Amino acid sequence: MANVRSEYTDSVNFYGQEDPRELVERFGSPLYVYNEDMLRARCRDLTGLSSHPGFRVNYSAKANTNPSLLKIIRSEGCVVDAMSPGELHINQLAGFTREEITYVCNNVSAEELKNASDNCDMVSVDSLAQLELFGKMNPGARVMIRFNPGIGAGHSEKVVTGGKKTKFGVDPEMLPQVQEIVARHQLQFVGVNQHIGSLFMEAAPYLDAMKVLLALAEKLLSLGYPLEVIDFGGGFGMPYHKYEGQPRLDMTELGNAIHACLSEWAEAKNYNGRFFIEPGRYVVAECGVVLGTVYATKNNGPHRYAGTDIGFTVLARPMLYDAFHDVEIYRENGKPDTEVVAQTIVGNICESGDILAKDRLLPLIEQGDVIAMLDAGAYGWVMSSTYNHRLRPAEVLIGSDGKARLVRRRETLDDLTASLVLE
Ligand code: LLP
Repeated sequence: MANVRSEYTDSVNFYGQEDPRELVERFGSPLYVYNEDMLRARCRDLTGLSSHPGFRVNYSAKANTNPSLLKIIRSEGCVVDAMSPGELHINQLAGFTREEITYVCNNVSAEELKNASDNCDMVSVDSLAQLELFGKMNPGARVMIRFNPGIGAGHSEKVVTGGKKTKFGVDPEMLPQVQEIVARHQLQFVGVNQHIGSLFMEAAPYLDAMKVLLALAEKLLSLGYPLEVIDFGGGFGMPYHKYEGQPRLDMTELGNAIHACLSEWAEAKNYNGRFFIEPGRYVVAECGVVLGTVYATKNNGPHRYAGTDIGFTVLARPMLYDAFHDVEIYRENGKPDTEVVAQTIVGNICESGDILAKDRLLPLIEQGDVIAMLDAGAYGWVMSSTYNHRLRPAEVLIGSDGKARLVRRRETLDDLTASLVLE
């Protein structure tokens, strides 16, 4: 395979026996492509963080819900969260049992809380009002309560979920009110959880927040609540700047710190329950890329544009968060090109914010090239839309045998109109 820029995917044999240009020919463009071996490796990084018997990786399904990926994640020993009836449904479709699903929602209806309690091992509520509603709908049921540890972290303000500036969690100061509601509805208060935000590359805030939750858990145990699960949330980051050699999170160091913290605490408190971490991005981001085709290039004043079919309807992260994804360039008989030019890669949507990569120094992109946006496995397809009535793309999985298979077909015009009531 001769390519203009593909060192990263070459180095990890991302496409197995396949060629990205042929994949686009076979399955259409744009196209999400996943790699099974990479997904398994990331799951193992996480399950290996602690050998404590109660330690579990609770995969946060919001990052990617394709059932073929969910099945692989389950086979690696992970459990799963759900935050909507849709996620719950698809987790069940992928084979997760009631005991393996934790519902972590906010601001939902009474019916949703009832459905969650009927179908999940544990349901987390994140306000006094939701706890009250949960108690009314499910008197005597098991409940988990999400607290806000006052510590936040994340790659963008939009994804920081801890601290006073966010809508999430119950302030630990409100414990007396929590106790009153729990007692009134005879709820079994069996879990506590938190989530400080998405994408940290430094372990300190996560470890600090763990200690805050453990201190609260200690208090709850001493008050007699039979805690079965203490869930520290997700947010584990991975390097998006691969071509600049961005270092990975040091999982050995992180694992040592997490393991020591859990096992010492469990021993001191004689706690035999489970400890969850709840990563989404770390599990699936790197196992996925989105491929697209360059249909036009142009110069506008000093700016060079490469126009592709990867609009923000296909990959929303750059438009929403100014998120960075590395770019690879594939061309028939292409040659690695060391000369770089500043280029802006854009999609096919009718808004000037439809930018995938701004002023990037890359080898000159030409019409007909296939490009890959790397690390698109998390918050990629799940955040795609049909704005401008573009159809959502297909997804293929490169199995451990190195061969690609379709795991979601491309949408059709009939899918687009399926829910209409035509008069
Ligand atoms: N647990 C809870 C309660 C969450 O809200 C989230 C993510 C996670 C776990 C998993 O976080 P992760 O390990 O993936 O960072 N769309 C954004 C990310 C939003 C994250 C929302 N909550 C993005 O594309 O960067």
